[in-house]
Amino acid sequence: MEDLDALRSDLLSAVARADDAQALEDVRVAALGRKGSVTALMKGLGAVEAGQRKIVGAQLNQFKDILASAIEARREDLAATALDARLVDERVDVTLPVRPQAEGYIHPISQTIDEVTALFGEMGFSVAEGPDIEDDWHNFTALNIPPEHPARQEHDTFYLPGTKDGARMVLRTHTSTVQIRTMMTTKPPLSIIVPGRTYRCDSDATHSPMFHQVEGLVVDEGSHFGHLKGCLIDFCRAFFGVDDLPVRFRPSYFPFTEPSAEMDIGCTREGGTLRIGGDDWLEILGSGMVNPKVLENCGIDDSRYQGFAFGIGIERLAMLKYGIADLRTFFESDLRWLRHYGFAALDVPTMTAGL
Ligand code: DAH
Repeated sequence: MEDLDALRSDLLSAVARADDAQALEDVRVAALGRKGSVTALMKGLGAVEAGQRKIVGAQLNQFKDILASAIEARREDLAATALDARLVDERVDVTLPVRPQAEGYIHPISQTIDEVTALFGEMGFSVAEGPDIEDDWHNFTALNIPPEHPARQEHDTFYLPGTKDGARMVLRTHTSTVQIRTMMTTKPPLSIIVPGRTYRCDSDATHSPMFHQVEGLVVDEGSHFGHLKGCLIDFCRAFFGVDDLPVRFRPSYFPFTEPSAEMDIGCTREGGTLRIGGDDWLEILGSGMVNPKVLENCGIDDSRYQGFAFGIGIERLAMLKYGIADLRTFFESDLRWLRHYGFAALDVPTMTAGL
């Protein structure tokens, strides 16, 4: 019986030590299986002296029961521990937002284009587009800049090698090309804006070889300079969010407008930083009444129709509104810069929600 006591404590501590279902099953088979140690003792009962057999048999049976229930209890323990571990592992925080935080940011150039579009959209303009690669006629000649015209020199044009249908191709130097494309295909009255990329062979702190403009064009029977002024003053004040923003128009020259004017807005340059508002002036856009020669080049009756046009640099608008000091940073693709100056991806500007 000492043997049985030793076996009992061995087996019960083996059960307690078994730390997963398989180890526990191994202990069970080693004790109660067909070739198990307890089974072997049961089989040996026949050899026990008759007087003792009943007592030993009862002890063995009791031990078998104790062992079986110890194994069962341990199995339940292990299952409960495993379930707890799984619950912790697969925990779901139901208070988290359904949609994770959107990754990525809207570039200030895209944001500015969206804001400009929302604003002019509200005034009844629609958006027109044209190709970045243009022929000489759309970029220059049709806009009253014939070959040898001095204005061509100012454009630092990128010329592409070869010609298409005998025409020299260029990277468009301004979005004014789309004035021509629209007037060639759409009958007046029309009012469009054209946000897009433009290119000039120039690169320094204030010039990038690729930059953005937004062109505007209105053609109607009664358009006049008052409309031009009202439209642009409203735009600038709404865009910068300054109701009494000082503005002025200065006479200027563009081959495709007559008369032409540049618009300045009030600014301050105190302390070396440029800020909106104040009694200094900053040029913000070029504009004018569409030159009748341009209307004529597009087959529009210039005795019946007249129009106004304007061209604005997107980078300059963005730099002024968002305090971006260096033009070159727009195109460096620096993620830290984008996280700082970028806009939330789902935050689309509208006139009602605010720009
Ligand atoms: N195309 C001009 C430029 O790139 C800007 C411009 C000036 C556009 C006057 C216009 C305008 O439509 O009327 O410098």
